[in-house]
Amino acid sequence: MPRVSFAPPLACLKVLPLLDFLLPSLPPTVRDVDVPPLFRERFIASGYRPVGLPWRCYALSLLQVHNETFNVWSHLLAAVGVLLRFTIFAFFRGGGVLGFRLQGPEGQGFSVDVASLPLVLYVSSAITYLSFSAAAHLLQSRSEQAHYSLFFLDYVGVAVYQYGCALALCFYSADAAWTQSMLGQVFLPIAALLAWSSCAACCYAKLRFHRPYPLHRKLCQLVPMGVAYLLDVSPVAHRLATHSWSSSPALPLHFLQVALFLLSAFFFSCPVPERFSPGRFDIVGHGHQLFHVLLSFCTLAQQEALFHDFLSRRPALVREFGEERLLLACASFPCLALCCAATALAMTRRAEAQLMKE
Ligand SMILES: *[C@@H]1O[C@H](CO)[C@@H](O)[C@H](O)[C@H]1NC(C)=O
Ligand SMILES: [Zn+2]
Repeated sequence: MPRVSFAPPLACLKVLPLLDFLLPSLPPTVRDVDVPPLFRERFIASGYRPVGLPWRCYALSLLQVHNETFNVWSHLLAAVGVLLRFTIFAFFRGGGVLGFRLQGPEGQGFSVDVASLPLVLYVSSAITYLSFSAAAHLLQSRSEQAHYSLFFLDYVGVAVYQYGCALALCFYSADAAWTQSMLGQVFLPIAALLAWSSCAACCYAKLRFHRPYPLHRKLCQLVPMGVAYLLDVSPVAHRLATHSWSSSPALPLHFLQVALFLLSAFFFSCPVPERFSPGRFDIVGHGHQLFHVLLSFCTLAQQEALFHDFLSRRPALVREFGEERLLLACASFPCLALCCAATALAMTRRAEAQLMKE
């Protein structure tokens, strides 16, 4: 009888140990009492990843079911969605949004359309906050130090996004009356200051207050953010209040954007629905997840509204504001990002020192 022997192809043999290394069997999730108090969430009883595993276990937990799986995926998918939608818009409607032009051998080489810079900054800020947040939720469980530094990074993303919105709304979505008002004149510097303060206040509150959390902590995080939001949304609020909503397709979208944000803020501040049935929403449906999903839709609706505003304002924008003012405003964006990053770094050092002492 002929014998047949099976030998696995050589390539397979080489790959196996690599796979073993890349996909260690992830340890099962544990209950709240099994992780340090810093990681516990009220009314969430299970689905916690243990602390102290190698980094790659947390990276791979993207494919595992735990209490943050949907927190990560919601913002990851939203980031991809924002980028795809922007690319499609830039190609088909925006006429190559940045207006990069390579001109003939006699031309000046290349030019940038200043009128679209705020839109590009806005889209980068949205992708920044979404990806920082996804990274924070994915990796923070490794240690208390990682928890602090990654959430500080998350707050940097939030501040950057706040200022990205402020820039875009002020240049594309405000009407002439608001732009010439007192508020319109001082809007951007105050928006930058408030964005930085909400980043600093969130970092401070996270580090300073321990369980059981006093009310101060939520206030310290919510008040600067709330004030910043009221200011940032004022160009849109003014337009919604003074114009007929059928005057532009952007207005219903702006209304949707504001409504989604307010709803998401509710779920950010209250542990609903899990407080009514502790342990039932550990994996799917807890408040922070609803907050992520609503905020993602808010960003997509806002982006859509901004596209409409951009198309109608673009032709006259440089004439209206002047090239210098536009460039200066856009240059303040990386400055703000740097200030926030420096603050988060300083707070990370303080967290290190505090953890050493404990
Ligand atoms: C999920 O578990 C992690 C620890 O793996 C913890 O830090 C986090 O706060 C929990 N999140 C929620 C929403 O329960
Ligand atoms: Zn989050």
